[in-house]
Amino acid sequence: MSRVGVTGAEGHIGSVLREGLSARYEIVPFTWTEQAFDSMAVDLSDATATAGIFEGLDAVIHLAADPSPTGSWESMLQNNISATYNVLEESRRAAVKKVVFASTNHTQHGYTMGGSPDELDLKKNFMLRIDDPPNPTSLYGVSKLTGEQLGRFFSREHGLQFVALRIGATGRGDDPTSAVGSPSEDYVRAMFISKRDITEAFALALEVDKDFLVAYAVSNNDRRIFDMRSTHEYLDFYPADNAEDYYPG
Ligand SMILES: NC(=O)c1ccc[n+]([C@@H]2O[C@H](COP(=O)([O-])OP(=O)(O)OC[C@H]3O[C@@H](n4cnc5c(N)ncnc54)[C@H](O)[C@@H]3O)[C@@H](O)[C@H]2O)c1
Repeated sequence: MSRVGVTGAEGHIGSVLREGLSARYEIVPFTWTEQAFDSMAVDLSDATATAGIFEGLDAVIHLAADPSPTGSWESMLQNNISATYNVLEESRRAAVKKVVFASTNHTQHGYTMGGSPDELDLKKNFMLRIDDPPNPTSLYGVSKLTGEQLGRFFSREHGLQFVALRIGATGRGDDPTSAVGSPSEDYVRAMFISKRDITEAFALALEVDKDFLVAYAVSNNDRRIFDMRSTHEYLDFYPADNAEDYYPG
């Protein structure tokens, strides 16, 4: 069985994947601070502290980041950009075969954003493709695009396989109707991804034999604004859930 490191393992998606992938992989959790479960606590923005931590791993799922679309430049630089570089460099050094990176819908948010980072302007909506040019509306989006390009560089120059998943929206409740009546309702109805679907997307990303791939990770939502054809074709990801099924009638 493959040994898979998971950074940000104490976070929301990390908790979902620790549970959902543990039957298929030996999960090795990395967290920022000590946890009630077994993990290695490390600040990934510290290159010295990160040295040697991925020895013996086959793959790394890199979730650790500041996930806030309103996060400061200092935080993006430290927790998203430097930490991602350290994770990739340490993966290269330890001969890890594959890194799966948690990217975001915010890399293309300028095409669809309403009045705030959690709102969609429905008048702007159209089906976005993965190869449409980047259009970040936040330093967070910029930091994730930088992570994708660092991955491209490490894949191209160092033979590390790299898959970036542009994740939609997932929350602890696993229920898009929690956003009903809020400014983010339309955004969540388009971007929702269930725990079941996100687990499957990461499992497929671990298995796919591609040197470099960027794919969408959203559920099969009627109101999605992402064209899933390249994700179907290259990742073989066919999400099972649909945000609309959670709404009565
Ligand atoms: N939840 C979503 O809807 C969503 C959508 C798109 C992308 N993402 C991305 O998925 C990933 C996980 O998201 P989440 O919702 O689980 O977030 P989360 O905040 O629950 O988890 C992120 C974890 O990263 C850890 N971390 C941050 N900086 C660190 C550092 N310097 N060193 C070590 N650990 C550090 C934090 O301790 C935290 O537990 C993030 O990269 C986020 O940007 C999430």
